[in-house]
Parts: sequence; structure tokens; C-alpha cells
Amino acid sequence: MAAKVAAITGAYSGLGASLSRALLKKGYKLVLGGKDPAEQEAFLKTMKRKPVIALVIDVRRKADCEQLIQTAIQSFGRLDILINNAGTWRMAPIDKITEQDIHDLFETNVFGPIYTSQAAVKVMKKQGSGHILNIGSTAAVDYKTSQVAYGASKAAIIGLTGCLRTELAGTGIRVSVFSPGGMKTNLFRTHPGRMQPDFMEPDFVAGKILRHIQNPDDEWHVVLRRQNKKV
Ligand SMILES: NC(=O)c1ccc[n+]([C@@H]2O[C@H](COP(=O)([O-])OP(=O)(O)OC[C@H]3O[C@@H](n4cnc5c(N)ncnc54)[C@H](OP(=O)(O)O)[C@@H]3O)[C@@H](O)[C@H]2O)c1
Repeated sequence: MAAKVAAITGAYSGLGASLSRALLKKGYKLVLGGKDPAEQEAFLKTMKRKPVIALVIDVRRKADCEQLIQTAIQSFGRLDILINNAGTWRMAPIDKITEQDIHDLFETNVFGPIYTSQAAVKVMKKQGSGHILNIGSTAAVDYKTSQVAYGASKAAIIGLTGCLRTELAGTGIRVSVFSPGGMKTNLFRTHPGRMQPDFMEPDFVAGKILRHIQNPDDEWHVVLRRQNKKV
């Protein structure tokens, strides 16, 4: 059987980098997209195995999202999974969050996944198969303070997933969302104190996501909480 092909956004750090390494080990061919050329370069140095195509893209731009999907088709002839992992985070109460931050959160965390999905659905419908996997967050359901805009953007991705899943029923395209709790990544670069000692390692979470990918009968929305966190 031909190797499977994955397109992953936000692939050069944190969870995206862990997912990229995990899928490469499973024999996937990868088309990766991330915003920062320096992060891309550093990540590629750690990637000894091929085939990997690494693009610099900004998921807030529809053309960049289309480029990611087109590159998968032009280079590898198919697309088995799209992972909408790129994300940004802000911490601010409702009366302090700026208009710019609200736009950035929604353009990155919601518009981007819609743009990539639009392009991916076209090719997956032709194939009669594929998987669109969105990365959500427990922030969508835990209702913490100073998370109004981020939590709302992650709630939107869960709603988007449910609607798209209904819309694509019967096409052979699987649609799901994986919502992790806190992870030890650069997401909290603006508020490093927010990261807690029991936050999960991204490699651990990527392992759980890999199992989700490999189990087509798994729930369409998986929530993975930190192990010692009370719910
Ligand atoms: N860390 C957590 O506790 C946690 C918990 C639940 C869910 N999540 C979600 O997990 C996903 C991965 O985040 P992470 O924790 O691994 O943090 P991360 O290391 O900051 O990874 C996020 C990646 O997305 C990229 N990105 C941001 N804006 C982008 C854009 N406009 N276009 C393309 N790429 C962009 C970032 O690139 P730049 O560095 O260049 O901006 C970065 O490589 C996100 O969706 C996040 O919301 C994280």
C-alpha cells in the first residue's frame, strides 16, 4: 500500500512538531506549514528522515492554506489527513483584550482551519477518503477567567467540526477534533507563569492523537485532560 500523506499546520514547534515526528515514524509523507522561517529551519535540522516538504505559510491567508493542500497533491498525489494544529493564545479579561488580538485569535484558530478544510475537502471528495483533524482545547469547555476570546475561538473549532462532520457524512471523509488540556509548549510565551508543572508533554499528547487517528471508530470529539486535574 502507498504511504499515507499528511498536511500539518503549526508544525515547527510544540504539539505540531511532536505530531510531525510521530507520523513520520509511522511512514507518512509530510507537507508541513508554519509561520516562522527561523523555527522552520531549527525544526528541519532535527528531522533527519524524508520525505518532508516544509513551507512557510500564514494560515490567516486563504492562498497560503490552499498552497499547503496543493503542495500535497502536486508532490505526493494525495492527501490522507489534514491536521489543523496552528494556534495562537492570549490571556486578557474582556475589558482588556484588544481588537487586534481578537482578530488574530479568530483568524488563526478559526479562519485558518476553514480555509485549509475548504481546499482539503475538494481533493478528499475526489479521493472518496480522508481525515480532517482539528486541534481544540479544554479552554472551550472549562470556562476559565481571562480566556474569553481564546476559549470562544476553540469553542468555534468544535462547532465547526461537528457541522462539517454532518455535512460530509457519506463522503468517506472523517472529521474530528482533539481537545487537549495544558501542554508544555511555547504557546504561553507571553505569560510563562501560566504553564504549570503538571502540564503534559507534547510528545505524550501526540501519542494519544496518533491512536485517535488510527482508530476510525473513536469519538469525533476527544477531550484529553491533564492526569491529575480535577474535572
Ligand atoms: N499548549 C497548551 O497548553 C495547549 C492546550 C490545548 C490546546 N492547544 C492547542 O495546540 C495547538 C498547538 O499549540 P502548541 O501548544 O504546540 O503551541 P506552539 O508551540 O506555540 O505551536 C503553535 C504553532 O502554530 C504556529 N502558528 C501560529 N500562528 C500561525 C499562523 N498564523 N500561521 C501558521 N502557523 C501559525 C506557531 O508558529 P509561530 O511560532 O511562528 O507563531 C507555532 O508553531 C494550538 O492549536 C493550541 O491552541 C495548546
